[in-house]
Amino acid sequence: MVKKVKSCVFISGNGSNLRAILRKSKQYNFPIKIELVISNNINAKGIKIAKNHSIPYKYLSSKKMKDFEKKSLFEIQKKKIKFLCLAGFMKVLSKNFIKNFKHKIINIHPSLLPKYKGLDVHRRILENKEKFSGCTVHFVNAKLDSGKIISQKKIVIKKNETEESLKKKNLLLQHKLYPESIISIFR
Ligand code: GRF
Repeated sequence: MVKKVKSCVFISGNGSNLRAILRKSKQYNFPIKIELVISNNINAKGIKIAKNHSIPYKYLSSKKMKDFEKKSLFEIQKKKIKFLCLAGFMKVLSKNFIKNFKHKIINIHPSLLPKYKGLDVHRRILENKEKFSGCTVHFVNAKLDSGKIISQKKIVIKKNETEESLKKKNLLLQHKLYPESIISIFR
């Protein structure tokens, strides 16, 4: 039996990546176990996913990021959590927070980084008439979407692609890439 690394997922919204990781983490040889979900949005749909999987969750306001980080750190340390996954978490964590988890925080982003950091990715990609898009899992540093790349998956953009269709296609890809990347980190 693999000794799973105690992990926490940070969310702000739908939590479909959280769901994908949780499903995979049921496998006996998946390297991490989600023991906490932290949301900075009280209305995040992902909270319901945590509830359905009986995973402890916390809502922490991020109005003041300093307080959010302090409280998150307290919860994380209380549960002896060693690994963090950001999954649709819409805030940038400070250098001060990140230094507690060197190479222990990862994020997923819906573009082929380093291209298209930040928000409104699909719209910008279509406006620029790109032929490909994709998603990236990367280590988190204090700069937005800039840490070392762990893995990427590419998709072809069709002629009639819309922002909505691209978003959907990309998310499905993310649900594969995120668990695979976690496995690759601990291999
Ligand atoms: C995903 O596109 C992710 O890459 C981005 O935010 C979205 C979150 O989706 N960072 P979900 O909350 O996991 O469904």
